[in-house]
Amino acid sequence: MAAAPIYLDHQATTPCDPAVVEAMAPLWSDGFANPSSRSHRPGLEAAAQLTLARERLARCLAVPADAVVFTSGATEANNLAIKGLCEARLTRGRHIVTVATEHRAVLDPCRYLQSLGFELTVLPVQPDGLLDLHALAAALRPDTVLVSVMAANNEIGVLQPIADISALCRPQGIAVHVDGAQLVGHQRLEPLAMGIDLLSLSGHKFYGPKGVGALLVAPGVELKPQLHGGGQEGGLRSGSVPLPLAVGLAEALERALADAPQRAERLAGLRDRLWQGLQPLEGVVLNGCLDQRLAHNLNVSVDGVDGARLHSALRRRLALSGGSACSSSSGEPSHVLLALGRSRQQAAASVRFGLGRANTAEQVDQALAWFTEQVQALR
Ligand SMILES: Cc1ncc(COP(=O)(O)O)c(C=O)c1O
Repeated sequence: MAAAPIYLDHQATTPCDPAVVEAMAPLWSDGFANPSSRSHRPGLEAAAQLTLARERLARCLAVPADAVVFTSGATEANNLAIKGLCEARLTRGRHIVTVATEHRAVLDPCRYLQSLGFELTVLPVQPDGLLDLHALAAALRPDTVLVSVMAANNEIGVLQPIADISALCRPQGIAVHVDGAQLVGHQRLEPLAMGIDLLSLSGHKFYGPKGVGALLVAPGVELKPQLHGGGQEGGLRSGSVPLPLAVGLAEALERALADAPQRAERLAGLRDRLWQGLQPLEGVVLNGCLDQRLAHNLNVSVDGVDGARLHSALRRRLALSGGSACSSSSGEPSHVLLALGRSRQQAAASVRFGLGRANTAEQVDQALAWFTEQVQALR
């Protein structure tokens, strides 16, 4: 049997930490009761566990516990934030601002609102992937209700200047939503101190379970629910909360933050080793700036090779991707790379290396050797 490929796709998803699996385990069987069942002891015990998970999660992000709305992940959190905020502020205006390099889970809800009559401004980015704050300032209008900008990009790892963005928007009464799916759990983040009104996060991006995430709603920010039903989560997200997943989310975030500084330092070392090791190949272009970037991300375009053939050769030994896992099935070149000014051909011949906890220097060297051999053969 062929050896398992080296997993370098940690921005698509991370393995669930075994300690997190263990923390969730009793809640699938013995502690199975519905936290909304207040008429018996098992239900009350489940409710107490849910309160604890909410408090633990809130503590990690320095927000009050009632700011946490559990969701099925960042896609749902983004939808609730964007549609819920715009619906709540209809009397103020109907203009939304976002950025060309956002995840589809932000761009598509914004486009959906556009189809309903909202005006949408999608700001371009600079060649290094960073938002131009002057362009943002110029785009804001009296009827702007929401600015949605991601903390860290899922394809190129670029970190946007969120505190500066909020400093521009907040004094004008414009709400700031941040898709934090790729940053939460990798760096300590205090959304309220940074002036963030709404923050989305997702468990499976920081060694937690899949199918759970949260939207953090700053005190005083009003949203209209997008799921109607039993009124769970303060009426903002109806549906029985999956207690094991909520506990897993809190456990994973505590654990991910506990080793985040050391992990980032080690993975930045591996990332730089990878980048240095690619230099002899020539014609390998970095996508996104190197300094304002997640430690565990490297994204490059390779000149002189066909993208489809490159990826088909790489996948024999490596598990990595050209961009977002959510859009890789469409066959379209990455909208993020096109927004940086890459050609369709360059965007197709691009590779995202997403490093994670279990990767070693030896694996990086093996990946480099395979990558180099395949590129040389194709050229
Ligand atoms: C930046 C970003 N936003 C949103 C999502 C969607 O997250 P989820 O899978 O939790 O719905 C992802 C995951 O691919 C992401 O990277």
